[in-house]
Amino acid sequence: MTETVLVTGATGTVGSALRAELVDYDAVVRATAQSPPGDGPADEWVTFDFEKPETWGAALAAVDALFLLRPPEASRVGRLREFVDAAARVGVERCTVLSVLGADRNPLLPHRRVERHVAASGLDWTFLRPSFFTQNLTEVHGESLRAGEIAVPAGDGETSFVDARDVGAVAARTLTDPGHAGTACDLTGPEALTYSEVAAVASDVLGYPVEYTDPSLPRFVVGELRHGRPLGYALVMSGLYTTARLGLAGRVTDDVGRVLGRDPRDVRTFFEDYAGELGQD
Ligand SMILES: NC(=O)c1ccc[n+]([C@@H]2O[C@H](COP(=O)([O-])OP(=O)(O)OC[C@H]3O[C@@H](n4cnc5c(N)ncnc54)[C@H](OP(=O)(O)O)[C@@H]3O)[C@@H](O)[C@H]2O)c1
Repeated sequence: MTETVLVTGATGTVGSALRAELVDYDAVVRATAQSPPGDGPADEWVTFDFEKPETWGAALAAVDALFLLRPPEASRVGRLREFVDAAARVGVERCTVLSVLGADRNPLLPHRRVERHVAASGLDWTFLRPSFFTQNLTEVHGESLRAGEIAVPAGDGETSFVDARDVGAVAARTLTDPGHAGTACDLTGPEALTYSEVAAVASDVLGYPVEYTDPSLPRFVVGELRHGRPLGYALVMSGLYTTARLGLAGRVTDDVGRVLGRDPRDVRTFFEDYAGELGQD
């Protein structure tokens, strides 16, 4: 029987990739957004806001499987817990949670608190714990990359970049195949690279020089503020890049390959696929 999959964060990086993947499955895709764009792969768009419980009923009606993310903008774990309870109450069967690599080792992390609540909710759960998305290089750092610079304070630390399209592909599999219930997937790319190595790959593929400048933390924060990013965001990013600088972001797993039966995309493939967006004027 065709199942209905509810995709929260459907306009976001992973949600968009997931919708594109679900086209190949026998599933009705209900996509949520605060202001539905109504385009791209999805059978139905619904207006939805975690902070507005009055929007939850229409989103959850007759849903079999739920893709749950914690929006970076919304920090209230309590609301997500209530939403999970509502999903369990109306008979949703499966829930794939977009978490973050290392969540299992950090009980205070909001993602881990959401995971634990989902595990206790009665829903069949799968946790996806991705490393740093390769897409951050275009979505967050695209402007400076096009100007020939990667300016993040990660030192010589390695990062096991994972392509968000692979995260979307794993999500699609786990949402439609009950065989993944009760499992957690640590999602990384096939290799861990320093940002100097990323800059070298970018230069090679894009055809213009890209330099890794490794700014100090204060300089990075000031740069982010100049780009109009909020202080809280700049501090969170500083924390993430410090994790990389300390050598804690380089763990490589084969979970993408295990679930999908193919290799994860590497950073070179990412630049080849996104070269059109990263061309210099
Ligand atoms: N970036 C990384 O490298 C990385 C790595 C590992 C894990 N993660 C985790 O991945 C998650 C983010 O995923 P992403 O990058 O795919 O998202 P994203 O591109 O940042 O997009 C955020 C999504 O959340 C939705 N959203 C925002 N506020 C909302 C609200 N109040 N109610 C309902 N939806 C709301 C947005 O939709 P509308 O505004 O259109 O409604 C949008 O679709 C975070 O939990 C992050 O910690 C990120």
